[in-house]
Amino acid sequence: MCGIVGYTGTQRASQVLLEGLKTLEYRGYDSAGLAVLHQGKITVEKVSGRIANLCEKTHDGLSVEGCTGIGHTRWATHGAPTDVNAHPHLSNDGRFAVVHNGIIENYAALREELRAKGYTFRSETDTEVVVHLIEMYYQGDLKKAVIKTVARLEGSYALGIVCTDHPNTLFAVKEASPLILGIGAGENFFASDVTALIAHTKNAVYLDDGELAELTGEEVRIYDCTGREIQKPVSRITWGMEAAEKGGYEHFMLKEIMEQPAAVKAALSPRLKDDEIVLDDFELSGEYLSRVNKILITACGSAYYAGCAGRYAIEKLCRIPTEAVLASELRYCDPIVDEHTLLIVLSQSGETADTIAAMKECKRRGARTLAIVNVVGSTIAKLADNTLYTWAGPEIAVATTKGYTTQVAVLYLFALYTARKLGRLDGEEWTGYLREMRMMPRKLQETLDLSHPAERIAKKYRDARSLFFIGRNTDYAVAQEGALKMKEISYLHAEAYAAGELKHGTIALIVEGQPVIAVCCCDELSEKTMNNIIEVKTRGAKVAAIAKPGNRAILSQADDVLFIADTPSVFSPLLSVVPLQLLAYYTAKENGRDIDKPRNLAKSVTVE
Ligand code: M6R
Repeated sequence: MCGIVGYTGTQRASQVLLEGLKTLEYRGYDSAGLAVLHQGKITVEKVSGRIANLCEKTHDGLSVEGCTGIGHTRWATHGAPTDVNAHPHLSNDGRFAVVHNGIIENYAALREELRAKGYTFRSETDTEVVVHLIEMYYQGDLKKAVIKTVARLEGSYALGIVCTDHPNTLFAVKEASPLILGIGAGENFFASDVTALIAHTKNAVYLDDGELAELTGEEVRIYDCTGREIQKPVSRITWGMEAAEKGGYEHFMLKEIMEQPAAVKAALSPRLKDDEIVLDDFELSGEYLSRVNKILITACGSAYYAGCAGRYAIEKLCRIPTEAVLASELRYCDPIVDEHTLLIVLSQSGETADTIAAMKECKRRGARTLAIVNVVGSTIAKLADNTLYTWAGPEIAVATTKGYTTQVAVLYLFALYTARKLGRLDGEEWTGYLREMRMMPRKLQETLDLSHPAERIAKKYRDARSLFFIGRNTDYAVAQEGALKMKEISYLHAEAYAAGELKHGTIALIVEGQPVIAVCCCDELSEKTMNNIIEVKTRGAKVAAIAKPGNRAILSQADDVLFIADTPSVFSPLLSVVPLQLLAYYTAKENGRDIDKPRNLAKSVTVE
């Protein structure tokens, strides 16, 4: 969702900002803008639609002079995606400009108060109250005015601010929305994520909630919410530009699907040491784990489906009751959670608003929290008692692929680690599972190689009105993720059903030619699912099955079969999701969809 960038230095700010905004496009947006300080004035340019429109309007930045400025991509929440509602927003006196990522929850009351004091509002946004508050509180000291302003705000915000009285200075504030400072030589930056920084610097400072930064080309000063200066460590960004580029693939999504063997290797290898699993810089003791009587996994979207897949492994191996709950539900369901509950929080971005809220609610009730997160330094990573990074590298496509598989892989590690600590796994069984984990990257590659028929099968389904995905247990978990992938990038209606539920209603929808994708990788249940395949085929369905190589019988039942590499059923979601990702990808491509940036979707859902 909204992306912000700030630059101060010696280059033409508008060009740096436009380049930065382009790297944030994947977050999802529907308008864009920038504000640049020059000779005591602020020039604001903003447009609805794509950044390309902003480039056109500013002649690729050449028509905007000045070396200090802020930029924004807006994903509309309050007010339609129009030029007027686009950020930056200007104060009435024209001295201040603000960009904002997040939501000001009490904006209506603040708007009334400011209107009563004579301030004029030009937009319908919640953000505009911020810039008028700054103007109201400003008495020559911008830092003070910003501190007074944020004290009035409820909600989430990463703010970038410029003021004509401070010609070479940027201000930035963070509260529950991401904001990272980039430290350069003679120039400094801020951005919503590191992809906008890496072309310029690998040195980053991760702001914490409540902190304020003041940047000039020469120095960066950071303050706490009272205005006291504080020191923060500079972190090194470990990946380079090529990680944020397409590298010859037509879409980021395809690149990221193909990167999965390497991404899963990065997630697993450092934690597989000799005959043991190590969890980065922390340990969960057997004594602690034996006191855990419930594991809750919470997340949204695909991360939730990763939790659904991982849940089976945890219950099977650890015998601890484990449940996956949607964060948007958990936060409001008055959950039965206490100090004997371990909450596992899954998030690629680490910034998903519902997930953060559910996490805070469970923490408040005494749960210990373990986050499995991709983005280093993100809000969820910081909030958690312990964090395991998935090390998937930047994921640019809105539809997650390697984000999902690395979450599943880390959940398997957690399941094995916990079972071992509880004394439930040893001997040949333990070493066999460890061996399996070590072979996963290779098996993912094998599965990618086996999945080439997905492109041909997608041609058959491109005109489908609806697709059903079925499976049992772990296969059902994967079916849910497969249906979501299909929906979000191909825009075809797709729904997942537990195969055993077909007879309880859904089978009424099966008519001649109805596409059914049957996931059939769970050895213990594959005969049952094959019976379901026969049932839908009898009623005219066209079936594409995902199966293990040993299941030759399926060849005579399904119309098409996509085989995966062999693996124990409990780990099969890590592999069986791959052909489903490719099926969704090629179906979307057949239909000419905007695969990396599907309509209405944002990469990081930072609002409820
Ligand atoms: O960043 P997160 O993992 O917390 O994001 C959760 C969901 O918003 C995300 O998985 C979403 O469903 C994706 N678009 C799925 O491809």
